Amino acid sequence: MPEKKEFKRLPTDVKPENYTLRLQPDLDKFTFKGQETIDVKVLSSTTSITLNSEEIEIQSACYKAADAGDQNLKAEVKFEPENASVVLSFPSALQPGSGQLCIDFTGELNDKMKGFYRSKYSSPSGEEKYGAVTQFEATDARRAFPCWDEPAVKATFDVTLVVPKNRVALSNMPVKSENDLPEDKDSDGVLVRVYTPVGKKEQGQFALEVAVKTLPFYNKYFQIAYPLPKIDLIAIADFAAGAMENWGLVTYRETALLIDPKNSSSKSKQWVALVVGHELAHQWFGNLVTMEWWTHLWLNEGFASWIEYLCVDYCFPEFDIWTQFVNSDLGRALEMDALHNSHAIEIPVGHPDEVDEIFDAISYSKGASVIRMLHDYVGDESFKKGMNQYLTKFKYKNAVTEDLWESLGKASGKPVLDVMTTWTKQMGYPVVKVSEKQEGSNRVLTLTQEKFCADGVQEKEGSFSWMVPVSISTASDPKKAAVVTLLDKTSMDVTVPNVSPDQWVKVNCESVGVYRVQYSSETLDRFIPAIKNKTLPPRDRLGLQNDLFALARAGMISTVDVLKVVGAFVNEDDYTVWSDLTGNLGQISILLQNTDGFEDFKTFSKKLYKPVAQSLGWDAKESEGPLAAMLRELALTRLGKYGDEETVTEARKRFENHVSGKVPLPADLKGPVYLTVMVNGDETTFNQMMKLYDEADMQEEKVRISRCIGSIKSDELKKKVLDFAMSDKVRSQDTVFVIGGVTGTVQGRELCWQFVQDKWTELHERYKGGFLLSRLVEVSTDNFVTEARAKEVEKFFETHSAPAAERKIQQSVENIRLNAKWMERESTSVLKFLRSQ
Ligand code: BES
Ligand code: ZN
Repeated sequence: MPEKKEFKRLPTDVKPENYTLRLQPDLDKFTFKGQETIDVKVLSSTTSITLNSEEIEIQSACYKAADAGDQNLKAEVKFEPENASVVLSFPSALQPGSGQLCIDFTGELNDKMKGFYRSKYSSPSGEEKYGAVTQFEATDARRAFPCWDEPAVKATFDVTLVVPKNRVALSNMPVKSENDLPEDKDSDGVLVRVYTPVGKKEQGQFALEVAVKTLPFYNKYFQIAYPLPKIDLIAIADFAAGAMENWGLVTYRETALLIDPKNSSSKSKQWVALVVGHELAHQWFGNLVTMEWWTHLWLNEGFASWIEYLCVDYCFPEFDIWTQFVNSDLGRALEMDALHNSHAIEIPVGHPDEVDEIFDAISYSKGASVIRMLHDYVGDESFKKGMNQYLTKFKYKNAVTEDLWESLGKASGKPVLDVMTTWTKQMGYPVVKVSEKQEGSNRVLTLTQEKFCADGVQEKEGSFSWMVPVSISTASDPKKAAVVTLLDKTSMDVTVPNVSPDQWVKVNCESVGVYRVQYSSETLDRFIPAIKNKTLPPRDRLGLQNDLFALARAGMISTVDVLKVVGAFVNEDDYTVWSDLTGNLGQISILLQNTDGFEDFKTFSKKLYKPVAQSLGWDAKESEGPLAAMLRELALTRLGKYGDEETVTEARKRFENHVSGKVPLPADLKGPVYLTVMVNGDETTFNQMMKLYDEADMQEEKVRISRCIGSIKSDELKKKVLDFAMSDKVRSQDTVFVIGGVTGTVQGRELCWQFVQDKWTELHERYKGGFLLSRLVEVSTDNFVTEARAKEVEKFFETHSAPAAERKIQQSVENIRLNAKWMERESTSVLKFLRSQ
């Protein structure tokens, strides 16, 4: 890894209290003018003031002490690009006390989706237009105006925007304007509005309904009212992240906000609900109370990523969203955190590149998962009480992780600090090994913890140990924990009463704990009938198979044994269980693509998915919920991808009817039909799909198409897709995923990696310092399967720097080596097993 960069934090001898800020964007020249007057407090005598500023020109800066009459001190301006800051030096020392700093500056409305930037859109008549938008997190407010751009330096703002009369101007607080937009007040009188592209106001209705329900829900949950008079949600065409929680003015990429009742899929609706829930939670967690420093970023992101589920469960119980949490967040966390190149939730960060780097699965998904575990450990009442204490104590201020533990510890009377410190200050998590014996009507379990490592090899340095809240359920009451305990040492015995010898006993009831469980094969066998008849609840079925796949990948059990357990899922009907299982089988399929036995894997898979697909049919039943639609999509996609003849024929027929306009595809069938015709298609299909892309009006549809066109078989067409990804037909924020779309085959992975290397300079220039660069590294390297590739990737990045993606590169290389080891160890036996099926 490259050396840590020297990076200086701002001095603390002067602090801002209020900014009077005036910004004037010029949308013809892509520039902006700015003026600010900052009321500051000088805490100790100094001849200079340092604040953050990046890619801004300062025309003049001066300081006026409150008691200096009209006397202005003119500053000499010196930029320090390596610290993204500017030093204003004065001819004489500023004395402790109040004063005003006045700065005139100019900047560019850039095309990098950060700071104060331009976003391109088309008007309803097809005219190309631009808007000006801000994105300040993590360290880019300094690109819009010179400021103290650190989370602990809070101040108030008076903002004036100077814009042409025919433009809408929005800021955090109400701006006088008259618009005909979907708007509503929540039950507490807060004005809630959704801003959509012109002419698409009905696409804001769904998010508006979610927001109007969510605000009162959070008011009640936190027992603290949303403090601003209004909140706007706005869709921005060019947007790097999914959404951004600006206080009172939340910005979204279009696909995270806009829902067309006819043309949006169930998954999109669910996603919009989650993102709205997430960003609104930040109005409390992040905005009202802010982390002291980026080390505690997870307090924002982990917490919001947890409570978004609570909110969606409240608004839309039909999504059974907490089961999906086990797949999307817990699963994601456990996968990444088993790597030797993972990191602790709380981690020292300095340079902006290091800050950008931690917007990752650890801060979000592991953060959310440890909160879920903690919530279960202390109980909802204590949790709410502690949360309210914490928010009340720190509102309009900053907090660190320990502050939250203290409030929750007090509210619950439990050793929250001791327990949670083991989860946030050390990386990784344990595997709990279970051995059991029957003693009369009791089952006595011996639980032993050790660090779980993705390769099964313990860390060379450090000793790891966790305080693990453990819950245990049994066959007689599968949904309820029979025993709850705290595993706070390496090993201990737990007695579970009233269990007969043939009954299963499951550790980690409902997969609430952030750990894996390894059973003896005899114990495991008891689960098989309970999986088949589904008396083992969905989250437990899901967690069980997920642990098994991970243990197999680590070489701790055999993959063939796991595939035998997969056979028990014959009657599975839960979308999320299928989804997780599909992810795990998908990993194996990627490996087996490199062997001559891939056809056997396809046959195995087709047999596996056929019964579900048949029971659901192609057409939605009137009474069905969104999960049925999502399961249909999943099963058909698999069958189509693996070339099931019946599925391919039907998909082609429906695609033709769609293209000709005879029978348009319902939104939930578009995904599987598009993918199936592409995987099994030729140049004609490709051109038809490109035409659909050009004609698509909704970003959701453009994204759906552009992510699947790369699955076309022909290498020549795949190359076309890669060029298309870089063209201005694809928005910069989507390019990475379009590039990733070609990696469905061995040859596609090769093309993609070659392309990324060839275009590295351009891609790096576009995405440097952002999380999209990490995603690019991931899609283009993660699925290689040989040691030679691992070396090649390492070597490439030795000479091609990728700040903010350094850790991701290490993780990808580690993943490639894991794949290589698995291939060596198990591909032969797995193929033999598949052939015998
Ligand atoms: N605060 C983030 C936005 C952000 C992300 C800013 C990365 C800077 C860098 C926002 O609250 C967020 O987490 N958005 C998520 C969506 C969410 C539903 C997981 C995102 O952008 O992916
Ligand atoms: Zn967030």
